[in-house]
Amino acid sequence: MKVVAIVGSIRKESYNYKLAQHVQNRYKEKFELEILSLRSLPMYDQDIENEPSDAVKEFKRKVAEADAVLWVTPEYNGTIPGVLGNAIDWLSRVDRVMVGKPSWIMGASMGNLGTVKAQLHLREILFSPGINSPLLPSNEVYVGAVHEKIDAAGNLTHEPTVQFLDSVVNNFVDWMGKQAR
Ligand code: FNR
Repeated sequence: MKVVAIVGSIRKESYNYKLAQHVQNRYKEKFELEILSLRSLPMYDQDIENEPSDAVKEFKRKVAEADAVLWVTPEYNGTIPGVLGNAIDWLSRVDRVMVGKPSWIMGASMGNLGTVKAQLHLREILFSPGINSPLLPSNEVYVGAVHEKIDAAGNLTHEPTVQFLDSVVNNFVDWMGKQAR
């Protein structure tokens, strides 16, 4: 099974990126995870949506070829970051590569609520017609106070979170087995 992670932060020391790396490393026997960068995506523009830059084409191709998408999002001002909304806009148009493709969501923030509001919005967005992605039910992953749970080397050291992610990943793999391909 091939999964792509779309991380809603482009900063070098992103905790959400590190969370995606933890999933990539710890579960590599269960699925291959490629973490996609949003750094080179231009702003969505309807004037060029039919002939976008190579970066957009490559991003859409990788999503199209994946069996599922893992969204790993920070929360900015009570919602999803602009870079993530921009990526979703590209994915929602022309060939609509997300339609019917399974998704699951995680998020990490330094506050205690762990991206609850951003994920609430993201779930709603993923059900819009241009995306229309079946979402792993339940299994909501809110990693609050993330700066206390990831060490300087980028390792997720908070054992309860590690164990919780183990159960979520098992549920994701079971659920994927039941999806129509
Ligand atoms: C934040 N942060 C934040 N945190 C939160 O829990 N709720 C929020 O609404 C916001 N809003 C917000 C806006 C902006 C513009 C920034 C830069 C930050 C803090 C955020 O959780 C923290 O910076 C995370 O570390 C961002 O995720 P990455 O980049 O580490 O993955």
